[in-house]
Amino acid sequence: MRSVGFTNTQLSARAAYLLRGNDLGTMTSAAPRLYPHMWSWDAAFVTVGLAPLSVERAVVEMDTLLSAQWGNGMIPHIVFANGRDGYFPGPARWECSELAFNAPRSPQTSGITQPPVHAIAVQRILDHSRRQGRTTRSVAEEFLDRRWGDLVRWHRWLAHARDPQGRGRITLYHGWESGMDNSPRWDAAYGNVVPGADLPPYTRADLSHGADASMRPSDVEYDRYLWLVEQMKRANYDDAKLPEVMSFAIEDVFVSAIFAVACEVLATIGEEYSKPRSDIRDLRAWSDRFRSGVAAASAERNGAARDFDIKAGRWINTETIAMFAPLLCGGLPRERERALVKLFEGPRFCGHPDLKYAVPPSTSPISGDFKPREYWRGPVWPVMTWLFSWAFARRGWTERSARLREEGLRQAQDGSFAEYYEPFTGAPLGSMQQSWTAAAVLDWLD
Ligand code: GLC
Repeated sequence: MRSVGFTNTQLSARAAYLLRGNDLGTMTSAAPRLYPHMWSWDAAFVTVGLAPLSVERAVVEMDTLLSAQWGNGMIPHIVFANGRDGYFPGPARWECSELAFNAPRSPQTSGITQPPVHAIAVQRILDHSRRQGRTTRSVAEEFLDRRWGDLVRWHRWLAHARDPQGRGRITLYHGWESGMDNSPRWDAAYGNVVPGADLPPYTRADLSHGADASMRPSDVEYDRYLWLVEQMKRANYDDAKLPEVMSFAIEDVFVSAIFAVACEVLATIGEEYSKPRSDIRDLRAWSDRFRSGVAAASAERNGAARDFDIKAGRWINTETIAMFAPLLCGGLPRERERALVKLFEGPRFCGHPDLKYAVPPSTSPISGDFKPREYWRGPVWPVMTWLFSWAFARRGWTERSARLREEGLRQAQDGSFAEYYEPFTGAPLGSMQQSWTAAAVLDWLD
C-alpha cells in the first residue's frame, strides 16, 4: 500500500482524466469494464463531478439519462449504451421495449429504478453555471426549462406509483432499486423469493471481468435477482400489477430520505427559477410526507431508521448505513437525532477503532452480517461518504461535513478511484476507475 499519496491537484487531474476516459460520448459509463453503461444514480453523481469541469458536458449527461425516462415518469436504473455488450442482464433479458408499454423504444433500458439523487445534480449544474459567463448560464437555464417537467414527473411517479398509500416511504420491488444490491437489509426479504423452475437459464457477466467472485453476490442471490425480473416481465412492468405479483416488496428508508431531501432541493430550484407554483407545492408536500415517513421508521431509543418488509409485515433490523437515513433529510426530535449522530460517529460506525479512515462502512463492523470485502456487506463506498458530507453541509453541520470530506480524500489518495474499500486496511476493491468515486473527489476538491 502506498503511504504517500497524490497531491490534491494531481488527484483532481486524475479524476478528471478518469471521467474523460469513461466518457462514451453522451454518457459516462459507471466503470470501464464491469459497468459499461449508464446507471441512473451513478449518472447523477457523475454530473456532480462533471459540473465543475464543464457545465455543458454535465448537462449532456443529465439529458441522456432523462431521454430514457419512461412514459409513466420512471427513470430506469440502467440506460444501455448502443452497441455495447458485456453486461448481464442486458436489454435482451429485460425486454422492456417489447413488454412494457411505458418504456421507450430507444434508448434501451432496464425495467427498475434507482435512488432519486438527481435533483442534487441539477442543483450543481445551476450553481456552477452561475460562476460562468452568460453563454454557460443560458445552457444551464435552458436545460432546466427543457427538463423541469420531466423532473417533476419523475418525483410524481415516485410519490404515487411507489407510495400509493401515502405512507411516506418508497416501495422497492427489487433490491437493485436500493442501489445497495446485496445489503444485509434485504436478506430476510430475499429469503422469501423462491425462483421458479421456469427461470430461464443465464450466464453471469460480472464474474468474467476479473471481479473476485468472493466479493460479489453469490449465485443463489443472483437467481433471486433474476427471478424478480421475470416476475416483472410477466406483469409487463405494469406499476398497477407489481404490488400483487412481486414476491419482494420493501419500504426503503434510505431511498425515502433521499427523496425527501431531493424534493426540497427541487422545490428550492423551482422557486429560484420561477417554476409553476403547483409543482413547488407538490414537491414541498412530498418532502414533508417522506420526512415524516422516515422519522416514523426510526427507533425511539437511538434514532436508527429501519426498512419495512411489506410481504412479511415487519420492520427490518440490520445495522447498516441506511440506519442514518434521517440524518440526510432531518425531521427527528432533537434528542433522537443527537443519539443517531452519536451512533454514526461512535464505535459501531465511523468511530470504530480499527477503521483505516473515519468514514461510514456500508455495514457496521460490530454486526454479525459484516463482511469487510463483500460489496454492500461491509466495505466503505466513497460515494456514500460524499452523500453524507453533502447532506451534513446542507444541514449546516459544517465541521462534521468537513471531517467526512477530509477522511474521504485521505482514502482517495491511493488514486485507484475504487468502487469500494476494505474498511480496516483501506485496500481498494471491486471495480477500479469507478466514475462516481472520481466525481466525489472532483466535487470535494473543487
Ligand atoms: C452496483 C451498485 C449500484 C451501482 C452500480 C453501478 O450495482 O450496487 O449502486 O449503481 O453498481 O455502479
